[in-house]
Amino acid sequence: MFSSRNVPLVTYVRRTLVARLAIMATVIAVAMAVFAYVAEERMLKEEIVTEARADIGELVARTREIVAQTDVTPAAAFDRALGEFGATRRLTTRGKIVYAKFSGRDKAEEREYLDTTFAEHQAVWEHVHADGASASYTELPWVETKRIAKLLAVHAVLLLGDPARDEAGTAEIVFIPAPAVVASMKRKSVFTAGIVVLITLATTGLLYPVVLRLTNRLVAFSRNMQAANFETLSLLGCIVAKRDSDTDEHNYRVTMYALRMGEALDLRTPQMRALTMGAFLHDVGKIAIRDDILLKPGRLTPDEFEIMKTHVRHGLDVIARSTWLREARDVVGGHHEKFDGAGYPDGLEGKEIPLTARIFAVADVFDALTSRRPYKAPLSCGEALDILEQGRGTHFDPEVVDLFAGMAKTLHEHYAHKTGSDLKAELIDMSWRYFQHDAQTLI
Ligand SMILES: [Fe+2]
Repeated sequence: MFSSRNVPLVTYVRRTLVARLAIMATVIAVAMAVFAYVAEERMLKEEIVTEARADIGELVARTREIVAQTDVTPAAAFDRALGEFGATRRLTTRGKIVYAKFSGRDKAEEREYLDTTFAEHQAVWEHVHADGASASYTELPWVETKRIAKLLAVHAVLLLGDPARDEAGTAEIVFIPAPAVVASMKRKSVFTAGIVVLITLATTGLLYPVVLRLTNRLVAFSRNMQAANFETLSLLGCIVAKRDSDTDEHNYRVTMYALRMGEALDLRTPQMRALTMGAFLHDVGKIAIRDDILLKPGRLTPDEFEIMKTHVRHGLDVIARSTWLREARDVVGGHHEKFDGAGYPDGLEGKEIPLTARIFAVADVFDALTSRRPYKAPLSCGEALDILEQGRGTHFDPEVVDLFAGMAKTLHEHYAHKTGSDLKAELIDMSWRYFQHDAQTLI
């Protein structure tokens, strides 16, 4: 019955799903890429430290060897090792030592070397002589990676010789990896991050049809439930109308009038849904009223009227059995209340009466007045409005009467002569959006 009207919902689901998956995939891809890049950077630093350790290790080992073989002081051995090592010229594919310093027990033995051929040698010099540059180490060897003049560098302090002997000293070294090594590692980091992004997007792309299929099935299930609920609503309204010798058209028109007023008042979706349900079910309690009273052609006696008034309580009792239909309680319970407090069943007054019930009361009376019944001819729109005006502030909310007065003529011309099936089709078109609202919240 409602399937053709659900195409927009399916489109909505698909668009929403695509948008959310795209956002999710982007967020995950960016997060994973950043994580991969940071991890690669970390590995890059570790690899550079390893490279530096290899070079520095060779220098330290050679210094120790010279000390052991020639019995020279560690300072002299360090000098010789540096000379042999060719530090001033050494530019391997891995990198080079641009600064070295020997520190022994005797301050006079201190040796310091700076590779002045290195373009940023001044920055290196300032770095190693800055306060606290290498003061934070507590045990040797001490190694850290630093950026000196934007270049990645390894700054290390290592022990020379045997610490148990007097000649033990330390070598402080700054190692700069070759630009080609850093560039290669950077490329690897970017490549890894790119691969992670591609894998994430590809995984999302593969998951999309699966998620869409599941969501569509869920939406279809929910849609069928909503349709069944809506049909139940229509059915209950129809049953009451049949029993009360009323017509389906009255239910449809009243609901349309009420919804148009609701739209004009900018009511929220739950209120619009409650208004629709209330309009259909307002007299559902008449099912419990005896035929001799319900169908009595003449005026009811006071006692009979008291019984008739119980249809409101019966109606509330009926809808209380359904969680879904319970939304109609404001209209069902309040549609015979009057603005001046003279109504029933609770004698509510003014704004104590729910807004949906105040709207419905105007719509219901207007349609009753302008409808043809076996016992009366229809009043014109103007005559009906005059009667509403007479009840303004007593029976009806004055603001709602004023609102309706401005739109009644157009609505009456549009709806008064429509057939039941046309009214029903338009009502479904109009109100369905309020009932599919829950389905939209599925995703
Ligand atoms: Fe009623």
